[in-house]
Amino acid sequence: MGILEKHGIIERNATLLLVLSFLVVSIGGLVQIVPLFYLQNTIEDVDGMRPYTPLELAGRDIYIREGCYVCHSQMIRPMRDEVERYGFYSLAAESKYDHPFQWGSKRTGPDLARVGGRYSDKWQVDHLTDPQSVVPESIMPPYAFLLDKPLNPEHISDVVATHRIVRVPYTDEMLDMAESDVLTQLDPDSDDYDGFLARYPDANIRNFDGQAQATEMDALVAYLQVLGTMVDFSTFEPDASR
Ligand code: HEC
Repeated sequence: MGILEKHGIIERNATLLLVLSFLVVSIGGLVQIVPLFYLQNTIEDVDGMRPYTPLELAGRDIYIREGCYVCHSQMIRPMRDEVERYGFYSLAAESKYDHPFQWGSKRTGPDLARVGGRYSDKWQVDHLTDPQSVVPESIMPPYAFLLDKPLNPEHISDVVATHRIVRVPYTDEMLDMAESDVLTQLDPDSDDYDGFLARYPDANIRNFDGQAQATEMDALVAYLQVLGTMVDFSTFEPDASR
């Protein structure tokens, strides 16, 4: 019996075909996936990464709620045009505290992975309030209502606790302080300034939207301003095995 006829047996037996296909695909999958668990560059730890502050976390939830990811990605691909436009390509470690991650693939607007610090808070607020006021040709919708929506930090402890379940290293102290930390980050004159910075090194502490009241705009701008800024790329050296 020739090899083709032998293969005919497999082709005429649906169960056998299914079992053998599964076996072949499994081997292919294992060969691709297993090395990823051992390669240094996929599990690389980088300096500077810290969990989001409660305010940034609240901003992230607003970002997701408003569907900003529908038009914006947060992953700079390691290609020259991307790196020249947006900055250092995104590292896996930079989204290790993102649950769910916001990489995305749809870019109606620019990638936002490193938008933190690129514009002033005022620019961000103006842009979110009325995009065409700062970028006349913009097709981004306005989000002015965020300026009038008081930030409700009631559930932030639950959000922090939930992130802890998926192994974001929030300490007991961070959890206990979560609700008050929302306001501490908005107030440079706060009594807990130093304590807050010890919990969240290098975090931005200021009134982001310029209004007396804490609003959803504060949270969203705090989130945008930290994107891509945690790792210091002036001292970062990619893993040699990369
Ligand atoms: C319908 C698509 C769309 C949606 C939804 C959208 N954007 Fe945009 N965004 C754009 C476009 C297009 C631009 C480029 C023009 C401009 O700057 O306004 C942009 C620009 C930006 C910029 C400036 C980026 C840069 O590097 O210049 C930021 C920041 C931004 N958007 C944040 C947001 C946030 C936050 C949300 C959700 C609240 C959001 N966008 C929702 C389309 C969108």
